[in-house]
Amino acid sequence: MTDAPVIETRAVTRDYTTKSLFGGRKTVRALKGIDLSVPRGRTLAVVGESGCGKSTLARIITLIDAPTSGEVLINGEKVALAGGVTAELRRKVQIVFQNPYGSLNPRQKIGDVLAEPLILSTGLQAPERRERVMAMLNRIGLGSEHYNRYPHMFSGGQRQRIAIARALMVNPELLILDEPVSALDLSVQAQILNLLQDLQEEFGLTYVFISHDLSVVRHVADEVMVMQLGEVVEYRPRDAIFAAPEHPYTRTLFAATPRIDPARIRARLAAKAARA
Ligand SMILES: Nc1ncnc2c1ncn2[C@@H]1O[C@H](COP(=O)(O)OP(=O)(O)OP(=O)(O)O)[C@@H](O)[C@H]1O
Ligand SMILES: [Mg+2]
Repeated sequence: MTDAPVIETRAVTRDYTTKSLFGGRKTVRALKGIDLSVPRGRTLAVVGESGCGKSTLARIITLIDAPTSGEVLINGEKVALAGGVTAELRRKVQIVFQNPYGSLNPRQKIGDVLAEPLILSTGLQAPERRERVMAMLNRIGLGSEHYNRYPHMFSGGQRQRIAIARALMVNPELLILDEPVSALDLSVQAQILNLLQDLQEEFGLTYVFISHDLSVVRHVADEVMVMQLGEVVEYRPRDAIFAAPEHPYTRTLFAATPRIDPARIRARLAAKAARA
């Protein structure tokens, strides 16, 4: 194990060229020189408004997409994207999306969903695969009774647990979480965030956590990177940035987020009940 950051990007850009209706071409620079670096076991939160390039960045650090220019390093080693990413490197980086239903095959039993990554990247036989799947189901708070169920038989929170479990089946080092709790109720959000925190400690995982929800970011982040129109405008430790956001855009972003303060809501409800 090295001291190198698990993930690092240097001056990463990504251009999208699209054809217009009239046959002309238009190029959009979705990422403009992104530098980031996340040490092992840490969480970098990426925030910014819709369209600022968060998912584009997620695809690049997941090695699904290649940057137009710049470098991506995993454990200090440059990823040679042009030559095709090796299976071993691919295993190390996994992604969890916002909508697990969209990424789960409706006709596949959960046991098979979780066994599939093992078939693809290990030589394990069926009984061992089954054992690993059962252990993972237990680890994420589901049981063996769920093994033969289909995705539609689960709640949103359970489906997100399954998506996390599937990502973890091949022992990755880095997990990219693209708005993993945005579609869930607040109480379920908290459960999933706590599960992610436990898993991070247990397996020494490194997270890049994309979210537009600053209360979530405050809960999970070690460092926060704020993006605007494909650029990083502020990138600092969580406590520092929440105490005193420096960039005007960060200030606007932080000011625009309504604070959900449960203590205040309870107090208001209690006052209302007292009046009635
Ligand atoms: N495949 C593509 N082809 C052309 N343009 C794209 C493509 N994917 C993204 N873009 C453009 O790149 C920019 C960044 O998009 P991206 O999806 O990364 O934003 P985002 O920050 O994830 O937004 P959201 O919060 O809505 O998910 C946008 O202007 C988008 O329209
Ligand atoms: Mg996105």
